[in-house]
Order: sequence, then structure tokens, then C-alpha cells
Amino acid sequence: MILTDTLLDFFLETRQHTEHICQPLEIEDYVVQPIVDVSPPKWHLGHSTWFFEEFILKPHAENYRLFSDDFAFVFNSYYETVGKRVIRSDRGNLSRPSVEKVYEYRSYVTDAINRLFADGQNRHLNDLLEIGIHHEKQHQELLITDIKYILGNNPLLPIYSENFEEHVVENHEQDWIPVVEGIYEIGHDSEDFCYDNELGRHKVYLQPFEISNKLVTNAEFIAFISAGGYNNFQLWHAEGWDWVNQNNIKSPLYWHNIDGEWFYYTLNGLQKVNPEAPVTHISYYEAFAYAQWKGYRLPTEFEWETAQKYFPWGKRWEWTESAYLPYPNYQKAEGALGEYNGKFMVNQKVLRGASVATSKKHTRHTYRNFFQPSLRWQFTGFRLAH
Ligand SMILES: [Fe+2]
Repeated sequence: MILTDTLLDFFLETRQHTEHICQPLEIEDYVVQPIVDVSPPKWHLGHSTWFFEEFILKPHAENYRLFSDDFAFVFNSYYETVGKRVIRSDRGNLSRPSVEKVYEYRSYVTDAINRLFADGQNRHLNDLLEIGIHHEKQHQELLITDIKYILGNNPLLPIYSENFEEHVVENHEQDWIPVVEGIYEIGHDSEDFCYDNELGRHKVYLQPFEISNKLVTNAEFIAFISAGGYNNFQLWHAEGWDWVNQNNIKSPLYWHNIDGEWFYYTLNGLQKVNPEAPVTHISYYEAFAYAQWKGYRLPTEFEWETAQKYFPWGKRWEWTESAYLPYPNYQKAEGALGEYNGKFMVNQKVLRGASVATSKKHTRHTYRNFFQPSLRWQFTGFRLAH
């Protein structure tokens, strides 16, 4: 638990950083929703603000007046407990409230939280404030990946920023890290913040295994493409093979073959694929097929957590072989916040690590991210195991 003063600083810094991410955008960029998984930047700005208003200010701030009676309907994401909301696929149809109004809303709520916590009277609400801050940090990552999708699917391929470094190369030689068989403890075990899905620390038995100290690179993935990996049904799950064929997938997301050479859209604009950089924007299906092709496999999330202290991580969300399931004795939080994680524990794969888009102070070796196996717009990658 962080003391209130530092927590309030953490809150203010987080609020500012979200707006800093949006600073290079043109007004028109704030409103677009090219696919259902991608939310308009304006919606992220409003939704992360609504979270503080709905779960802290409305129930706990005396005489608090809502900024707008309509905003819960517009900015509630998926909380059935809270009530009706704009359906996800309609977020891009919201030409109102205006971007200007949403920035006013942000200031209004930031000021109200500041007043509520400033005098140190409300330390019993610190846990709620902390989850609100981490929630906004999750949305900072989504903002970056959603902005990339919006700009990367604009035919003009506009540059977001010259300074965003996506392709951090791992310079070390590839090697295998052996882990002996045994019983290992999995899950969060400190007083620091974590989500409920990391709790229920428990023991697992692991067979002996080896895990790569390095992520699979673009050069290695190009070898898979050149060898016909996308045309060989034997490498794919049935569901993955259907996905490849129905969507005519021939390469990772954002890749363009121009006169026989591979380029990709990055937040710095269109660039030649860097062969040394870790491959990214691939689905679980592609990671699995590549591993099949090489005669290896993906690590389970338990193997990853056990071995992570022996390799660098944090550049790419790493697909694992594990289904997203509750740990033993998992308890979801009470009330509306119980909807944060638990209800998504079906038909998704766990990703471990963090990515170049993950906000600082939002990474942990026990962090469990999760997505449907076909999704590629996050900075996803993978390492092999056997
Ligand atoms: Fe959210």
C-alpha cells in the first residue's frame, strides 16, 4: 500500500501521462474506431475518467455532482452492475461529447479526486484509488496500440511520433535455459498492488524443461514465411487454419511486401523490417504454428513465471500455451469491480511479460494479460520452450 501523498502524486502523474500520449493526435484521430477491438482515443480518455467518478466520487465524495448525467451511459465499458451503456461497436459513432468536452471532464474529475484525497482524510479509499490508477495505466497501453491501429490502417500511414522506439533489439546470443523438475510457487506474494487474477498463490509441479533466453526475431519469422508456413495446414490448429484462410493471412499485422521486400508500419511510419528485432503483432495461432515448424512449443505461464528471472523481458507480450483460468481459491472482488477480470476467464490465452507500450510501474512477473488467440494489435511476440 502506498501512502496517500505518494499515491496522489502517482494519480496526477498518471492522468498527465494519458494526455501526453494523445498530444501528437489531430482532432479527427480521436474519434475513429476501425475495428471493434480498437476504441477511439476520445473514448479511452473519457472511460478512464468515468472509472474514478463511478467507483470513488459518486459513492464517497460528499455533495459530488456528476459532470454529466449521460456519461455513465457513454463511458461504461462492460460493467453490468452499473447499468446500460453504448455497445462496444458503437464507440466510433460518438461524435459527441466533443474532444474538448472530454478534456473538461478529465480536469473536473482529476480536481475532485485531488480534493477528496488531499487532506489525508480518506485513506480507506486508497485501494480504490490505486486500482483506478492501474486501470488507467492499462488504458494507456491500449491507447498506444489503438492509435497505432488507427494510423496504421490509414492509407497515408501517418507518423505518430519520431521518438517512440518499438523495435528494441535483444543483442545476446540465443541459448536455452534449463529448469529442473520440481514443485514451484506461482502467483503474487507481496504487499504491492496486483489484480485479483494473480492471487491464490499456489504450488505447481513442473516437468524438466528448457526455455529460450531470447524472443523469436523477425528474421526467424521471415524464414517461416519463406518456407510456406502459412500454407501448411499441418502446422496449425483447425481454428487457426480457418482463421488464416478466412482472413487471407500471409504475414504479421502491419507487414507489407513491397517489390519482394518486407516493410512494416511502426509508430515512426513505414520502415524496412529490422531482421534482428523481436517479431511482433502476431496471433497465438501464428506463434503456435511457428513453434510446430521448429519442433518446439510455447512455454506454459507457470514455466514462464518460474524461469523469468533468468532472461530479459518487457519488450513484447509473450503468448503462452496456458488457457486463462482462475488460480485455486480465486476470489473475485466484491461489487462491480468483481467484473474486472473473473468474467473473462473463458476462451482466452494468457500472455506474460509486458511490451514497449506498457506504462512504467505497470509490470510484474506475476502479471497475467489475456486475449483471444486471433488478436494481433497488441505488441505480441513469443519465445520457445521444449
Ligand atoms: Fe477499462
